[in-house]
Amino acid sequence: MFISLLPTIVTLYFFSSTAVHASPCVAFDVQWNLLAFGLDGKDWNAGPQNTWANGTVADITASGRPPFDGTNTTCFLSQYANAIYVTNGDKSSPSSIHIYDAAAKSWSKQTVTTGSFDPGSFNAILDHDTNVFYALSHGELFHLDMGLLKAANSSALQWVDVEKAPYSSDYEPVMALAQNHVFFLNVPGVPAGSADIYVIHYNYFQPEAQAFPTSNGVIPATHGQTASFFQNQGVQEAFAFIPDDCSATYVLNVETNTTQSLAGPSTKDAGATYFAGLTSLVQLDSTGVVSYLPFNPNDTSANAAATWNKVVSLANVAPPTNTTSTSTTSPPKVSVTGTSRAKATSSGNSNNAIAVVAPTGIIGGLVSAAMLACAAMLF
Ligand SMILES: *[C@@H]1O[C@H](CO)[C@@H](O)[C@H](O)[C@H]1NC(C)=O
Ligand SMILES: *[C@@H]1O[C@H](CO)[C@@H](O)[C@H](O)[C@H]1NC(C)=O
Ligand SMILES: *[C@@H]1O[C@H](CO)[C@@H](O)[C@H](O)[C@H]1NC(C)=O
Ligand SMILES: *[C@@H]1O[C@H](CO)[C@@H](O)[C@H](O)[C@H]1NC(C)=O
Ligand SMILES: *[C@@H]1O[C@H](CO)[C@@H](O)[C@H](O)[C@H]1NC(C)=O
Ligand SMILES: *[C@@H]1O[C@H](CO)[C@@H](O)[C@H](O)[C@H]1NC(C)=O
Repeated sequence: MFISLLPTIVTLYFFSSTAVHASPCVAFDVQWNLLAFGLDGKDWNAGPQNTWANGTVADITASGRPPFDGTNTTCFLSQYANAIYVTNGDKSSPSSIHIYDAAAKSWSKQTVTTGSFDPGSFNAILDHDTNVFYALSHGELFHLDMGLLKAANSSALQWVDVEKAPYSSDYEPVMALAQNHVFFLNVPGVPAGSADIYVIHYNYFQPEAQAFPTSNGVIPATHGQTASFFQNQGVQEAFAFIPDDCSATYVLNVETNTTQSLAGPSTKDAGATYFAGLTSLVQLDSTGVVSYLPFNPNDTSANAAATWNKVVSLANVAPPTNTTSTSTTSPPKVSVTGTSRAKATSSGNSNNAIAVVAPTGIIGGLVSAAMLACAAMLF
């Protein structure tokens, strides 16, 4: 019991004393290697999907990277440029977009002027064909043309206010990209199971919502996360929607306008983020654990039987709640969930346990009776 309390105590320590949460993010490069940025303070290349169970991971931490200390840090793949664009990777420079050239393995920092755009509160997609970001922020639609940049341009880029979206300004955007269209889910007034659509090439909000029925019902109207499945060539044709309660994974196909209902993530975490490649949907939970659901665009019965698995190779090099090696400016983003406690305590690797227990001085010196009481209440 006491052992199982320790991770919670460490969590509370970081939460209450520094209130700094590192924000890692995951993405793929165009060879479909899984990249994890800012995980335990480093960046990693976990290689292709068939190596995640037992392969090796390369440390790709390089100079010029953002500190991954922002809020809502998000990674986007520009497939034509084979570059990863990172928004909110550096809290001291929230409007900048950091660019990782996946071929050159180098970083640069793009200056972006915001105008009326609020980099602290937005949701965005990166259009496949035009390499333009479309973002919804406080009810306003913005775009940002990234050219075909794989390294920062010396001239600033600019967020451009396109128009007011036909949604109330308190709509918390749930948006996804497929087939040069932006799909908005959970729009107030739109029936459950239907999406509103913005047609990128015509700058046009389609007035009619589009239904995406499942075989036995509809997608719930609720907030959640999305990730578009890439193809080797051409635009995305399907995207995943994961409701905040992680009760299921829905894959919406925008060619057939139908939805497959697949297994929900094993780790139920409303703070998790997602990235899809060709044949997998990857979850990064808020403790830094990376898991995936295999997906085959041509095989619905395989998808229905698919289960979530951990990316073991990443967990080996960057275990969750590895607080010893991480500086106080970027502790792992951790939360007091059953999962984080279970992960930290059930590991057979005694090094992991030591990593968690190590700050005995911290525990002895800083954990007050009040915090212990608080930690106990969480059980
Ligand atoms: C590594 O994992 C793959 C996929 O699960 C499996 O096919 C392979 O046999 C494993 N190799 C080793 C050396 O364990
Ligand atoms: C950004 O993060 C804050 C704090 O975690 C959260 O309240 C907010 O909803 C997030 N914004 C978006 C657009 O996800
Ligand atoms: C980069 O900068 C050059 C010169 O300042 C400019 O002509 C070009 O359009 C810029 N490219 C992008 C993608 O913004
Ligand atoms: C799917 O939805 C789009 C957008 O509403 C529509 O244009 C298209 O005709 C629909 N396709 C099918 C097969 O129903
Ligand atoms: C799905 O089918 C298409 C068309 O036959 C093929 O090009 C693609 O490689 C297939 N994808 C997978 C993951 O098997
Ligand atoms: C924690 O992570 C660092 C690098 O990020 C690594 O060097 C160290 O071995 C890890 N500690 C444990 C106990 O795994």
